[in-house]
Amino acid sequence: MNSYDSLRIADALQEAGYKAAISMADANVVVFNTCSIREKADEKLFSDLGRARLQKLQAQIAENNFIIVVTGCVAQSQSEDIARRAPYVDIIAGPQEIHKITEDIKNFEKNNRVIRTESDAKNKFLHLTNQFFNREVSEFLTIQEGCDNFCTYCVVPYTRGREFSRDAADIITEAKRLLAMNVKEIILLGQNVNSYRGIGADGKTWDLSRLIFALADLNGLKRLRYTTSNPKDVNENIAKAHGEVDILMPFVHLPVQSGSDAVLQRMNRKYSADEYEKCIDLLRNHRSDITFSSDFIVGFPGETDEDFQKTLNLAEKIKFAQAYSFKYSPRPGTAAEKMPNQVPEEKKSERLQILQKMLNDQQSSFNNSCVGRHLNVLVTKCGRHKNQLVGRSEYSQPVAICDSYLNIGDIANVKITAAMSHSLVGVVM
Ligand code: 5AD
Ligand code: SF4
Repeated sequence: MNSYDSLRIADALQEAGYKAAISMADANVVVFNTCSIREKADEKLFSDLGRARLQKLQAQIAENNFIIVVTGCVAQSQSEDIARRAPYVDIIAGPQEIHKITEDIKNFEKNNRVIRTESDAKNKFLHLTNQFFNREVSEFLTIQEGCDNFCTYCVVPYTRGREFSRDAADIITEAKRLLAMNVKEIILLGQNVNSYRGIGADGKTWDLSRLIFALADLNGLKRLRYTTSNPKDVNENIAKAHGEVDILMPFVHLPVQSGSDAVLQRMNRKYSADEYEKCIDLLRNHRSDITFSSDFIVGFPGETDEDFQKTLNLAEKIKFAQAYSFKYSPRPGTAAEKMPNQVPEEKKSERLQILQKMLNDQQSSFNNSCVGRHLNVLVTKCGRHKNQLVGRSEYSQPVAICDSYLNIGDIANVKITAAMSHSLVGVVM
């Protein structure tokens, strides 16, 4: 979602006459769009700001402007901390305030810091520019933002605010705008994308499946994906969409977080391991070749060896095509931060290593199982080698295609000739 927001910030700046700089050394304005999902991500901001500060000092000596903007979730949750630790930051704007950044930069007067931490996604979408620049073959489109779930480890409900769904008509208009720019694949985005409830063109409330059916009718759209879904909101409608909509890709990101019911309950995930498996079965029943990726957290407070074993058992059973796994990171203001029995760092690392080995092996074996098969590949860019193109399979694997006469934006039937742990190689027959 930060990638999407960054593009829309860049659009507004470009519309106002700014141009992208090659590096910070060539810039008069730098915008840091931050993430606070885990501690590592927000620590990164302060190291990046250190570099920007040096740049600003140099600019001041040369009597040039250098405006530093911090936006995103760290700006929202730690505005005072940023202002105190990095007094040279000029504009601090939470993720629902990104539509004001260009104006703030234009109005900027020295030593007149602006801090904006309102929280209204609806207002943001009303005011962001509709002038788009620089889109690629595959692009994100935010349809829903914020979260009401309050998983006990997660900072998102406090930074992105309450759940908000955009009107379907706005989404369809934006999709058409992307298609006019030669976008071929749209990835619908939301913190809770499958709890999308937007007002439809007919004045009724549409769910995600209804929106998918409407988007699938648009001329020129070759692929649709959506992310991220909460298992508790997976239903028959979305499963049916997978069965009926050809351009809806058979690859779903469905974070499970843990395989232990006790941990899931303390996480406030509102589903059991059994119910998670039922979601997988439901989707597989409607689209037999569907594959899954997932997110896992190890070392959540109170996680025992038995709990962790249940996570391994679940992963073993489902066999994920891809997965992300993280050590639990206590976030300020969340319920889990104050829970007893925090797991020692070494234990977290040990469990992460074991889980990642299993998940990497699963990914490799899925990739190996694709060798000899024909996959549809959307060509997204040129490869590193001569005559090489790179694309994505329907299962989202990167595929390098050798010696072909394809163009970026084409969908090709590619015979897979080799598999690496994270990508494939193929030829066009
Ligand atoms: N610690 C570790 N991982 C987290 N995630 C969210 N919050 C935390 C946290 N406090 C992970 C979850 C989520 C993904 C986007 O980030 O797995 O699905
Ligand atoms: Fe965070 Fe849970 Fe909401 Fe996802 S569903 S954004 S993990 S609170």
